[in-house]
Amino acid sequence: MKLLNEILGTRYPIIQGGMANIATGEFAAACSNAGALGLIGSGGMNADTLRENIRRCKELTDRPFGVNIMLMHPQADAFADIVVEEGVRVVTTGAGNPGKYIAKWKAAGITVIPVVAAAVLARHLEKLGVDAIIAEGTESGGHVGEMTTMALVPQVVDAVNLPVIAAGGIADGRQMAAALALGACGVQVGTCLLVSRECPIHENYKAALLKAKDSDTIVTGRIGGTPVRVLKNKMSREYVRQEKAGADKMELEKFTLGSLRRAVFEGDTDTGSLMAGQVSGMLHEIRPVADIVADLNDGAFARIAEMQQLCGNR
Ligand SMILES: Cc1cc2nc3c(=O)[nH]c(=O)nc-3n(C[C@H](O)[C@H](O)[C@H](O)COP(=O)(O)O)c2cc1C
Repeated sequence: MKLLNEILGTRYPIIQGGMANIATGEFAAACSNAGALGLIGSGGMNADTLRENIRRCKELTDRPFGVNIMLMHPQADAFADIVVEEGVRVVTTGAGNPGKYIAKWKAAGITVIPVVAAAVLARHLEKLGVDAIIAEGTESGGHVGEMTTMALVPQVVDAVNLPVIAAGGIADGRQMAAALALGACGVQVGTCLLVSRECPIHENYKAALLKAKDSDTIVTGRIGGTPVRVLKNKMSREYVRQEKAGADKMELEKFTLGSLRRAVFEGDTDTGSLMAGQVSGMLHEIRPVADIVADLNDGAFARIAEMQQLCGNR
């Protein structure tokens, strides 16, 4: 099996997950320079700002980087063209089926890697000609599915004949080693990079992450069908309370409208949406991206070596 770094031309088999309103060209370049694959999160951008961010990223790194496109974005069609025009090498997609873009992207030599939360979608996407699959468990921050990384990854590995990247609940070498043990060729991480020095979120957001304990995340929108994992705060607790009480979608929409931007740019930790995964409780300090990804990789290496001894003699 080829490891993800051999597939992508990166130093480490690690992808920095696309994060709307957070993963700018500058942040993606910092992650690529640190040896991971940096991804520009196009979620909060428009066609002009996406193009600017791609160009900025190219100025700041000569390493491979990519773009994450959320397929429900109103400008997804325009984004699909921009990545071709700007010579982007890797595209990851979320929230839907990228089928209609694949021929165009493949003709441009782009490596296409959709994110899935269930094996059935992975199987379907394989037939459409994608290059690899990111299997993202519900431990992850942001939009989530139902299945855990532990249950999902091996089932996606068995379902497709493609490289599978594990995401959700990975913040140190032990978890990365576990992902490789499940059959993944590498990992995608998001939450652990939020507390990097280079991550452009408000310091209040970072402080809330550093304070969080293991059980401090909650999923809003599970009942309504748009599940998003965030830190518990006034907004998310009230959302879930009203959701359980049967509030309608429009009522609930009021809580989330602009809430990620409020958290990221204004540092509003009461009514902002502090998207974060269950590994938040493992984050204890602000560190350079380079240290975070090197520790992930080296920690996995060390853990795998230790595990051979754990198995004893056969
Ligand atoms: C704040 C935040 C925003 C995110 N936004 C996006 C996004 O715009 N598109 C996407 O495909 N995934 C998004 N994700 C998911 C990440 O790309 C990644 O798959 C996930 O964070 C991995 O799980 P982890 O949080 O446990 O590390 C987001 C995650 C976080 C924490």
